[in-house]
Amino acid sequence: MKLRSLAGALAATVALPFCAAHATDLEVTHWWTSGGEAAAVAELAKAFDATGNKWVDGAIAGSGGTARPIMISRITGGDPMGATQFNHGRQAEELVQAGLMRDLTDLATRENWKEIIKPSSLLDSCTIEGKIYCAPVNIHSWQWLWLSNAAFKKAGVPVPKNWDEFVAAAPALEKAGIIPLALGGQPWQAAGAFDVLMVAIAGKDVFENVFAKKDEEVAAGPEIAKVFKAADDARRLSKGSNVQDWNQATNLVITGKAGGQIMGDWAQGEFQVAGQKAGVDYTCLPGLGVNEVISTGGDAFYFPLLEDEEKSKAQEVLASALLNPKTQVAFNLKKGSLPVRADVDLAAANDCMRKGLDILAKGNVIQATDQLLSPDSQKQKEDLFSEFFANPSMTPEDAQKRFAEIIAAAD
Ligand code: GAL
Repeated sequence: MKLRSLAGALAATVALPFCAAHATDLEVTHWWTSGGEAAAVAELAKAFDATGNKWVDGAIAGSGGTARPIMISRITGGDPMGATQFNHGRQAEELVQAGLMRDLTDLATRENWKEIIKPSSLLDSCTIEGKIYCAPVNIHSWQWLWLSNAAFKKAGVPVPKNWDEFVAAAPALEKAGIIPLALGGQPWQAAGAFDVLMVAIAGKDVFENVFAKKDEEVAAGPEIAKVFKAADDARRLSKGSNVQDWNQATNLVITGKAGGQIMGDWAQGEFQVAGQKAGVDYTCLPGLGVNEVISTGGDAFYFPLLEDEEKSKAQEVLASALLNPKTQVAFNLKKGSLPVRADVDLAAANDCMRKGLDILAKGNVIQATDQLLSPDSQKQKEDLFSEFFANPSMTPEDAQKRFAEIIAAAD
């Protein structure tokens, strides 16, 4: 018996190539609390625990809008965690500039991140003044319409192939007691839906003129007026959703109570946990079936500077484990996102992920607004769209005027 457990312990040691000298606890904060998200983050925890260290889960409920201020105030207030999620882009910029975050450049150079991480814009978003401050873990795109096949069957109309068909099918859904468009009340969801409508309806160039070049004339012009017209439709169709969280809105689609939802590809994790199959139970339309473009933002882990030497070592072990090919596959298949490295085996990808991979391979990509706008400008957009979607008396014209002002002042 004793011998057998000794052999077991030895086998475990042999199976753990990066076994740390000392097991170290590292608290990791993130906002992945829905069913699909929890299943995915468990894969990251498993990969880190396999190094002999211990992932101490610091999930913060309520999505990024709630979690980020808590994360930031812990770091600025002298109570840093071992590692934390942020979206790729500019959310940690000020923390880095304040000298509070760990420089990962040595590790990134040793492990060749510049070669393996694709597209290169992901690592660019981690780079400030030539130094790398984050480990990207996925590519998440926003530009999807998720449809309940059962809802359209019940309404007696075919599953739409694009946004216009979706809008045209709405009366049939309503007649059958189904909410056409599920939309949660958290402000980021309304702002995200508008940005998705923008790429689908006005195209990639207009999106880039507005958010990358901050061209206020384009923001005030006729192309964006069309997008506001579509947002007005979306506002009407989403009446009656009466939920806050994005995954509650996804659940309305999963249960056939709503026809569709505009949401990022993290929604796939929820369909998966519910046992639903892409192409059978639900349909996904990238670019709303109009303009197949996806954004290549997503999530990255950042590491606050810590005094504790063991924990600092464990931070590097975690950063490395996050980019390990096996972790990348296990995590992203459950998360609904695409891996950040192109050299991993995605044979198990479902129909929707494959569509995303094809679009990525064609290079039909844009940067995420989190990469292009400061957190302040993002917040102003969220306030505007949350008001627009909640208040039917705000006209599309008035909303566009405010939008153009936000873009004029955006950084
Ligand atoms: C995003 C994040 C995703 C996702 C979503 C909803 O900001 O990039 O990973 O889970 O929030 O929580």
